[in-house]
Amino acid sequence: MKKIYPSLLSADFLNLKEEIIALETAGVDGLHFDVMDGQYVPNISIGLPILDAVRSATKLPIDVHLMISNPENYIETFAEHGADMISVHVEATPHIHRALQMIKNANKKAGVVINPGTPVETIMPVLEIIDYVLVMTVNPGFSGQTFIEACASKVKLLRDLKQSLNLQFDIEVDGGINDRTIDLCAENGATMFVTGSYFFNHDDYKKVTQHLKG
Ligand code: DX5
Ligand code: ZN
Repeated sequence: MKKIYPSLLSADFLNLKEEIIALETAGVDGLHFDVMDGQYVPNISIGLPILDAVRSATKLPIDVHLMISNPENYIETFAEHGADMISVHVEATPHIHRALQMIKNANKKAGVVINPGTPVETIMPVLEIIDYVLVMTVNPGFSGQTFIEACASKVKLLRDLKQSLNLQFDIEVDGGINDRTIDLCAENGATMFVTGSYFFNHDDYKKVTQHLKG
C-alpha cells in the first residue's frame, strides 16, 4: 500500500485552504511540509505561521521535513505548532540521536533523513529508535528536480536491513517522484511517497492520487 504525501511547497499559497480541502477529498495520506533555513540548504521556504494555518485547516497528518541546521533547537516548537511527524537530516546536527529522542519525547513520529550523497551506514545506530527513514532522491532545497536513480539502491539496502534486523521503521522517499519513479521506489521497499511538482501539475487531485497509488 503506497501512502501519498503531497508537498505543500508546490501548492497554490493564495488558495491554501481550498488546496487542503481538495487534498483531503482526494484521499491523500498526509501533508508534507518543507522547512528550509537558507543555511543548511540554499533556499528559504515556509515556517511556523503557515504551519499554524495548515494545522487549523485539517486533521490530516502533517509530516514536517526540517532542512535546517541544528534542528534540535526547533523540534519542540514544531511539535507544539501541530506537526505529527518530524524528520531531521543526519548531516544537519552532531547530535542526531538526541534530536530523534526529542521528537519521540514530544510524542511525535520521528524520521531520520539522508541526502543522496550520504551512505545508509551513517544512520545504522539510530534505526532502532526511529519511526521512518526519509531517503532523499534529489539534493534538498528545491522542488521540480530530477530523481537520482542511484538512490533506489539505498531504499533496497534499508529494506534488507529492516528485515534482517527485524525492525519496524517505514521508508519514505522525497524528490522527483512521479508515476514511474514511485514504482521503482515501491519495488525496492518504500511505502511513503512525497510528491510536489508532479502532483500539483495535475488539476484532478483525486485522479492523480489514485494513479500514483496504482
Ligand atoms: C526538496 C523537498 C521536497 C520537494 C519535492 O528539498 O524536500 O519535498 O518539495 O518536490 P518534487 O516532487 O517536485 O521533487
Ligand atoms: Zn521534503
